[in-house]
Amino acid sequence: MRNKLLNLKNQALALIHQTPDKKELERLRIQYLGRKGTVNTILKGILKLEDQEKANIGRLGNDVKTAITQAISSKHQQLSKTTIKKEFFDPTQPPQLPQLGNLHPITKIINQVEDIFSRFGFTIASGPEIEWDEINFQKLLLGPDHPSRDTQETYYFDDKQLLRVHTSSVQIRYMQQHKPPIRIISPGRVYRRDTIDATHLPSFYQIEGLIVDDKTTLTDLLGMLEHTAKQLFGQQRKVRFYGHHFPYTEPSLEVEVQDKTNKWLEILGCGMVHPQVLENCHINSKKYQGWAFGMGADRLAMLKYNITDIRDLYGGNLRFLNYEHT
Ligand code: DAH
Repeated sequence: MRNKLLNLKNQALALIHQTPDKKELERLRIQYLGRKGTVNTILKGILKLEDQEKANIGRLGNDVKTAITQAISSKHQQLSKTTIKKEFFDPTQPPQLPQLGNLHPITKIINQVEDIFSRFGFTIASGPEIEWDEINFQKLLLGPDHPSRDTQETYYFDDKQLLRVHTSSVQIRYMQQHKPPIRIISPGRVYRRDTIDATHLPSFYQIEGLIVDDKTTLTDLLGMLEHTAKQLFGQQRKVRFYGHHFPYTEPSLEVEVQDKTNKWLEILGCGMVHPQVLENCHINSKKYQGWAFGMGADRLAMLKYNITDIRDLYGGNLRFLNYEHT
C-alpha cells in the first residue's frame, strides 16, 4: 500500500506538471482527490491493517493528498497568470509608440534648398573636405596674400593641402570636369579656425550654387535668391542685397535676411563668376557666363527655427534634437 501510494503521488505530480489548462487540472483533481478518487480508493484498504501500520499509512495518505493539493494549486496559479497575460487586452489604453527621431535642423535646411533648386534643373554635386590649396584658393583667384589664406583662418596639413574653408572649391572641381551648361548646388562641411561663440564654430555647413551657360544674368541670380529666401522663410520675410567683394566674382554681393527681431543677418555671398575663374577651368569666358553663391546652412537653420546659439546645433542634446523644429 505504501508503494501504491508513493507511485500514485509521483504519477499525479507528473501529470499535473504537464497539464496545459485549467479544465484538465480540474479533471485530475477529481480523479485523484475526489470522494471516489484514486487516493481514497487506496486508503479504503487501511481498515484491514494492524493499528500501528494503520497510523503510518494514514499519515502517508495525508502527505500524499497534501502534496497533490499543493501541486494543483500552484499549477492553477501558474495557469491563471499566463491566461491573464494572453487574454487581458485593454483597447482603451493609449498605444506605446516607438520612439521616433527627427531630422536635424541643418539636414532639413539642406533638403529644402535641394528641393527648391532641383525644380530649376540643378543637380547635386559634392567634393572632398580635404582639399588642395590650388582648388580651394588659387583657382578662385585667392592669391597667396589674401587674408582668408591666413594660417589664422585655415587648417593646413602642409603647404599644399588643407581643410576646405568653403564649398566654392566644388565649383572648380565641377567646372574642370563638365562643360556648360552647368547647374549645380553642393551642400557640405567647411572648416575655419574660428573662436567658438554663439555664432561661430570651427566647422559648419555651406550650400554652394553655380550656374554657367551662355545667357544667364545677374537678374536671374537675384531672382533665384529672393525666391529661395521667400520659400524658406515665408513671403513676408524681408531680404536685401548689397555690394561686397569676393575675388572670384564680379560684381559681388551679400544677402541679408531680417530675423524675428528685425535684425539683419547675412546669409550668403554671391556674384557673377569672374571670367578668369572660368578660364582657369578651361571654359571660354567670351562665350559663357555664370553666377554663384555660397550660403551658410547653419545661419539659415538658426533664422528659420529661431535658434540663438549655433552650438546647440552640434551639442547632441537630445532635448534640443527631439524638439520638433518646424
Ligand atoms: N565662399 C564664400 C564664403 O565662404 C561665399 C561665396 C561668395 C560663394 C561668393 C560664392 C560666391 O560662390 O560667388 O564666404
